Amino acid sequence: MRHFLTLADLTTAELKDILNLAIQLKTEWKSGGNPPLLGGKVLGMIFQKPSLRTRVSFDMAMLHLGGHALYLSPNEIQLGKRESVADVSRVLSRFVQVIMARVFDHADVVELAKWSSIPVINGLSDYSHPCQGIADFLTIQEHKGEFQGKKLTYLGDSNNVTHSLIFGATKLGMDFALGAPEGYSLRPDVMALAQQFAAESGSKITVTTDPHEAIKDADVVYTDTWTSMGQETEAEERRKVFPPFQVNNALLAYAKKDAIVMHCLPAHRGEEITDEVADGPQSALFDQAENRMHGQKAILVWLFE
Ligand code: CP
Ligand code: NVA
Repeated sequence: MRHFLTLADLTTAELKDILNLAIQLKTEWKSGGNPPLLGGKVLGMIFQKPSLRTRVSFDMAMLHLGGHALYLSPNEIQLGKRESVADVSRVLSRFVQVIMARVFDHADVVELAKWSSIPVINGLSDYSHPCQGIADFLTIQEHKGEFQGKKLTYLGDSNNVTHSLIFGATKLGMDFALGAPEGYSLRPDVMALAQQFAAESGSKITVTTDPHEAIKDADVVYTDTWTSMGQETEAEERRKVFPPFQVNNALLAYAKKDAIVMHCLPAHRGEEITDEVADGPQSALFDQAENRMHGQKAILVWLFE
């Protein structure tokens, strides 16, 4: 049985299979609709945090593939509070055919997978956001054609989204550059894993506190909120150190002329990204958001292959 918890767990071939499946399902959808590949299946969606994209794209993905999605709000299940994670997992396994969970602590999604008798998808944890990663590499493939030799620059806080990006990039042979302030750089365990993947694929990793050095000649410029869900008490402190990493027109001028700009959204416009960039000609933000739905379909179908 397969789970989908972090891109680090996938082989490069598996990652490419999911991306190809996403392209196929997207093409099919655009030319009239998908066959009911998940007919009769129900996805249980556990949310400990808010969501627009993840919730709606999973719901639509199941609908288009002939299945059904069940939204379970933070107050309903109270994962680990009202009931243990292990019990929730075993009970849900008797009712539905696949679980998606958005959690604070990554250990909770690992625990769900440990006890379930059905596939478990990580819909975002403090450690990783692999569904976002699939949509992101799908978007890069569509805009850039290939991964090998292209440079992906991430500017800002090294968070769950960054982890999925560095794992995917180093598996697919993209060069990865991180521009982050001191104290907000990559976790050593994430760096060690990424270095291992980079050694196999030939991609290069650069980590710097200089945003100009990080963005130089980038093909893809990516940013995310400076304060992730669960870190709200640090927001003020973070607003003081991150401004040099804001993706604005002046900084973007250092990337390649045809670079695309990406953001997983929700964006804090005027903080990590300006309106001029988010709404400008290089923005791929809404292609990326749409691709969440196509990526989600591919993940779901792949889990049952
Ligand atoms: N990018 C993303 O996961 O968005 P939501 O938090 O709205 O699901
Ligand atoms: N890093 C952000 C991503 C939101 C989709 C967070 O965890 O809040």
